[in-house]
Amino acid sequence: MAQKIVLGNWKMNLNLFQAEELLNDVDRLKKEVPKDVQIGVATPSIYLHSALNILTEGKVWVGSQNIYHEPNGAYTGEVSADMVNSLACHFTLIGHSERRQYFNENNEQLKAKVNLALENDLIPVFCCGESLEQRKSGDYLEVIKSQLEESLLHLDKGSVKGVVIAYEPIWAIGTGETASADQAQEVHQFIRSLLTQKYDAEVANLISILYGGSCNPTNASELFQQNDIDGGLIGGASLKATNFIEIAKSF
Ligand code: PGA
Repeated sequence: MAQKIVLGNWKMNLNLFQAEELLNDVDRLKKEVPKDVQIGVATPSIYLHSALNILTEGKVWVGSQNIYHEPNGAYTGEVSADMVNSLACHFTLIGHSERRQYFNENNEQLKAKVNLALENDLIPVFCCGESLEQRKSGDYLEVIKSQLEESLLHLDKGSVKGVVIAYEPIWAIGTGETASADQAQEVHQFIRSLLTQKYDAEVANLISILYGGSCNPTNASELFQQNDIDGGLIGGASLKATNFIEIAKSF
């Protein structure tokens, strides 16, 4: 069975003092999270070190929101997979729709990032999802299929077991409009069936597929009850520790 996972994506929010307060709150409340649920936070890279110092004992994964698609070199301002790994982080988000949209990240670069993450012992949390236009046109499953095929499904069976997938419909991110449990389950099941076709059912059932997009303490339990939804990637609601922990208790 896939591991239950709830990750917070802080995006570009909070100054150091606010970030440390939130980290301390998460650290204090983490004992309320059931043992079989893994939680984690993707903080801005500049706070990863603080996060790892505050969140001791391993119950909370710490990860970056991005890595660069080259291993190292003259790329001013960028952060490499090796740097993130050397801090002892657990994961990195890859291909968040905001990265695709505002920083023009393409599927080929995202494929390189997935490879670099795995080579550097980071779990790639690979994000995919369609725009409102694509949803309305009915093409959304095709969109998700090509995002996965072009950046993730080149991995062999052994490596793909080390990834987490996050389905995040763009129209639901930060909008307060959540995909219904049925809409989310349809896509999650589709992703699982792609994994079954490409690999096998055993591998497909091992890979956690998270839902992201205005997930909150009120709607999380209905989403997490769906067969193929193994947890969530939480933006806005992860900026308040009580909300974040409440979501992690919603299975
Ligand atoms: P949201 O963001 O929960 O604020 O909609 C989710 C995400 O972008 O990961």
